[in-house]
Amino acid sequence: MNRTKKPASKPAKVSAIKQNSVFDETPPPNPQNLAVLDESIYDHPKYYDLVFGADCAAEIKFILACGEAHLRGGSIKRLFEPACGTGRLIQAFAKKGFEVSGLDLNPHAVAFCNARFRRHGFPESAFVADMADFKVKRKSDIAFNTINSFRHLNSERAARDHLNCMAQAVRKGGLYLLGVHLTPTDVAPSETESWSARRGHLSINTHMWTVGRDPKSRVERFGIYFDVHRPSESFRIIDELVLRSYTPKQMDSLIESSDGWEVIETYDFSYELDEPIEVDSTTEDVVYVMRRK
Ligand SMILES: C[S@@+](CC[C@H](N)C(=O)[O-])C[C@H]1O[C@@H](n2cnc3c(N)ncnc32)[C@H](O)[C@@H]1O
Repeated sequence: MNRTKKPASKPAKVSAIKQNSVFDETPPPNPQNLAVLDESIYDHPKYYDLVFGADCAAEIKFILACGEAHLRGGSIKRLFEPACGTGRLIQAFAKKGFEVSGLDLNPHAVAFCNARFRRHGFPESAFVADMADFKVKRKSDIAFNTINSFRHLNSERAARDHLNCMAQAVRKGGLYLLGVHLTPTDVAPSETESWSARRGHLSINTHMWTVGRDPKSRVERFGIYFDVHRPSESFRIIDELVLRSYTPKQMDSLIESSDGWEVIETYDFSYELDEPIEVDSTTEDVVYVMRRK
């Protein structure tokens, strides 16, 4: 690799890292007194897709550029996404003329994804499956998993099984782009995030916050709500995401333990192909570009 690597952005060092194994269950403020639905956000694909689907352009451009730069033994024809959710990314690739497929554990998300494929005249290319236990009939050139979905796998065994399944789903010389938020060991991790999305008369304000981190059991819990506003009603969907945590070292040792993959480059979520990063103890967001051996 003859490009200069930029170091991962380094937030100010803190003297004691917040590794809080006491979980804060305090419900978030609800000043508008919205009716609250205690449900999985993944069971609401229409709202999920609006909140997360607004801007796919940077991810699409990055995935294709990674293919150009790092794929061996042929060009990009077929792409696969484990944990594809509503299929916001595989839809965009289908529209660009690529063959695509995806899987997700959530049948509501898969139905939403396939309905949209159907509406646009594409084959229904998503199926319900566990990303740690699946087989595909046709191998892809590139697979990608961009926003932490991998961390839903709650054990080392499941994570390794996933990498092994992915090695069967991608051809030799093909790529798997795995985007994760690591737990930095030298600085305090970020704790909250808020954003909004609007389409027509539907608007959604989203907030995500850390409920607790237990580095020993490697469980991180995040609260998330969607405040949904439609002309006829407003309500809040509140959920908890339970994710397995990875320090940079833990991620390295997981990938090394799988026979099928070698890490050939690392980037951050700014998706700049010309600016690879070096993962260190302060790094949070990383896209591991792995090549199938
Ligand atoms: C944050 S969403 C990401 C969806 C999609 N990749 C995207 O970028 O919009 C995480 C997805 O992971 C799915 N998921 C969680 N555990 C899974 C598993 N074991 N196998 C397959 N999908 C899973 C959820 O149903 C959800 O759709």
